[in-house]
Amino acid sequence: MIQQTLVLIKPDGLKKSLTGNILTRLSETKLEIVAAKIIRVSRELAIQHYWHMEERPFFEELIKYIQGELHGRKKVLAMVYHGENAIEKVRTLAGATNPEEADSVSIRGSFGRITTKGLYENAIHCSDNEKNAEREIKLWFFPDEIIVDMYNSEIKEIDNFKKKVWK
Ligand code: CDP
Ligand code: MG
Repeated sequence: MIQQTLVLIKPDGLKKSLTGNILTRLSETKLEIVAAKIIRVSRELAIQHYWHMEERPFFEELIKYIQGELHGRKKVLAMVYHGENAIEKVRTLAGATNPEEADSVSIRGSFGRITTKGLYENAIHCSDNEKNAEREIKLWFFPDEIIVDMYNSEIKEIDNFKKKVWK
C-alpha cells in the first residue's frame, strides 16, 4: 500500500545535531522524501498538531517543546515520506513513544530522554495512521510544497492571488 507520512525532526533532534543521523536511518526504508522545509512553529500550529493531547497534564510543556522553547531552537524540520507502507516503516525505525521503552537501536531509543518534568523528548515525530497522516500533512504543508499529488486540492483566489489549497 502506497502511503505518505509526516516526519518532524523535533527541536531536541536539531539541537543535538541529529538531522544527518536520523535522515540516514530513515533512508534504510527506501522511501522517497517528497516535501521538506524548516519551519518556525506557531503556537496555533503546535496546538493543532497535538490537539489529541489537550487533556494531558503535560500539554503546555509539549507545546513549548515542539515550538522549540525548551531548546532555544525555534524550528523543526518537517518532511513528507512517500512509498510502500511508509507509516509503519517510519514508526518502526522511530521506536516507541517513551524513549525508555523504545528499542535501543531505534531513533527514539538511541537519542530520546525523559526530562525531569516527565516529558518524553524523543527527537522525531511520525504519523501513526493514514487518517492522521492526511490531517498532519495538510496542516504542515501547502499542496504546492509536495512534489507528488496525494490529496485533493483546488485553486482559490485569496487577496487577488490564485493559490492551490487543500479541498
Ligand atoms: O509521538 P507519538 O505519536 O509516538 O506519541 P503521542 O501519544 O501522539 O504523543 C505525542 C508526543 O507527546 C510524544 O511524542 C511525546 O513527545 C509526548 N508525550 C509525553 O511527553 N508523555 C507521554 N506520556 C505521552 C506523549
Ligand atoms: Mg502521535
